[in-house]
Amino acid sequence: GLKKKDANVIVVGLDNSGKTTIINHLKPKETKSHDIVPTIGFTVEKFTSSALSITAFDMSGQGRYRNLWEHYYTECQGIIFVIDSSDKLRMVVAKEELDQLLNHPKISNRRIPILFFANKMDVREAISSVKVSSLLQLEQIENMKNKPWHICASNALTGEGLMEGVEWISDQLR
Ligand code: GTP
Ligand code: MG
Repeated sequence: GLKKKDANVIVVGLDNSGKTTIINHLKPKETKSHDIVPTIGFTVEKFTSSALSITAFDMSGQGRYRNLWEHYYTECQGIIFVIDSSDKLRMVVAKEELDQLLNHPKISNRRIPILFFANKMDVREAISSVKVSSLLQLEQIENMKNKPWHICASNALTGEGLMEGVEWISDQLR
């Protein structure tokens, strides 16, 4: 068949939000991991959407590694930002990290698409994607006005919501 166009995306968000689990669900069967552990530093993963061959930089969300994120901003054409919808206590920390990302000189002036996964929608205490979007103030942030963005509720354990998000960002990048 025709070769798909390549795109790089960076996958960020707090530790334990589900980034690696999301990517693992999207990867081809042969390359899936059976047990997922907290990411050390970052890993580079590959999966495809209907239109693209995607290289994903799966970054660690632990505080001590968050300074690595910015080193991959330049080479990425898209951002996936993952939020644990059941972690209300750390929603403000997620918001701080998002603000820092958006204010970064390598991001602030670019029309780079951002896909948000309001992940762990299956957890009983989880809040809706609309509520996540309002807590992160996505509609109000000045540096979001030049960026296409989309938010999907997801369950990385079953894969629910993941394809919708991936097809959205893939449409933005092709
Ligand atoms: P770091 O690599 O430390 O930044 O974390 P991460 O964002 O990659 O999180 P990871 O994928 O390692 O998942 C953390 C934990 O959350 C694991 O125990 C996952 O099984 C669990 N998890 C991930 N997604 C979901 C989800 O949608 N629902 C539920 N219930 N648990 C999830
Ligand atoms: Mg991880």
